[in-house]
Amino acid sequence: MTHILAIANQKGGVGKTTTALNLAASLGHSFKKVLLVDLDPQANATVGSGCDKHELKKTVLDVLMNNAEVADVLVHCPEAKYDLLPESGDLTSAEVELINELMREQRLRHALIKIQHKYDYIIIDCPPSLNMLSINALVASTGVIIPVQCEFFSLEGISALVGTVEKIAKMANKNLKIEGVLQTMYDPRSMLTIDVETELRGYFGDKVFRTAIPRNVRLAEAPSHGLPAIVYDKNSKGAIAYKGLAGELIRRHKPKVRMGVEETN
Ligand SMILES: Nc1ncnc2c1ncn2[C@@H]1O[C@H](COP(=O)(O)OP(=O)(O)OP(=O)(O)O)[C@@H](O)[C@H]1O
Ligand SMILES: [Mg+2]
Repeated sequence: MTHILAIANQKGGVGKTTTALNLAASLGHSFKKVLLVDLDPQANATVGSGCDKHELKKTVLDVLMNNAEVADVLVHCPEAKYDLLPESGDLTSAEVELINELMREQRLRHALIKIQHKYDYIIIDCPPSLNMLSINALVASTGVIIPVQCEFFSLEGISALVGTVEKIAKMANKNLKIEGVLQTMYDPRSMLTIDVETELRGYFGDKVFRTAIPRNVRLAEAPSHGLPAIVYDKNSKGAIAYKGLAGELIRRHKPKVRMGVEETN
């Protein structure tokens, strides 16, 4: 089964793209076949993957508009060990271009159906809003990872996202669930971090990943070199944390054998 994971939180700057890039690379370096989809007009995941967005002939927008197949748009990223479905900024117009299209919230899902069997994981970097692009990501996904920056106001807006996930799960995608909540820029010495963590665990329980991502300058530097942290500095605290997150996911998704019956979760 392919796990399609949307990295979503409508709050800006909480570590969505950093998580998408580094989780995709950590899974790739753990011998999983991975596709990273950049669904944010800011194109940060594309640039952070070392891809020159000005050189792209086709992008994810062409896929959403049915002008191209995923396979024709893919870029291989051998060092990061994933394939990228890139974006160049064109998606800014997607909301308008999709407005008159039929089944516009299903476009990404239909495009991915044709190629998803080739991958163990498809990671989707969402924009910082609950717009048609985020809805496309949620309709296409099996799970949502919500990065939360452990600071004041970080819990605001999460209930809107959880409500949207529940609505989509009911109306358009019964496979969708919250895969997990990821604490980013985590500082265990800060009282505020501890307060936010207590609140998160109270609300989401064991959906909060055991791995928390520390604030680490290597994670911020790596994208300007077009590399994930695991390649840029594999011994950095940030790279090690994202490897831990990938390991946690892989263990969760391992088929469990119970009384001779194989189950997956
Ligand atoms: N754990 C971390 N340690 C240090 N810096 C980080 C960490 N995570 C993210 N950053 C930095 O914080 C900034 C915001 O991170 P990122 O771009 O991943 O957030 P985002 O949620 O994708 O933002 P947007 O909502 O604009 O898409 C970036 O400059 C990034 O390099
Ligand atoms: Mg981003």
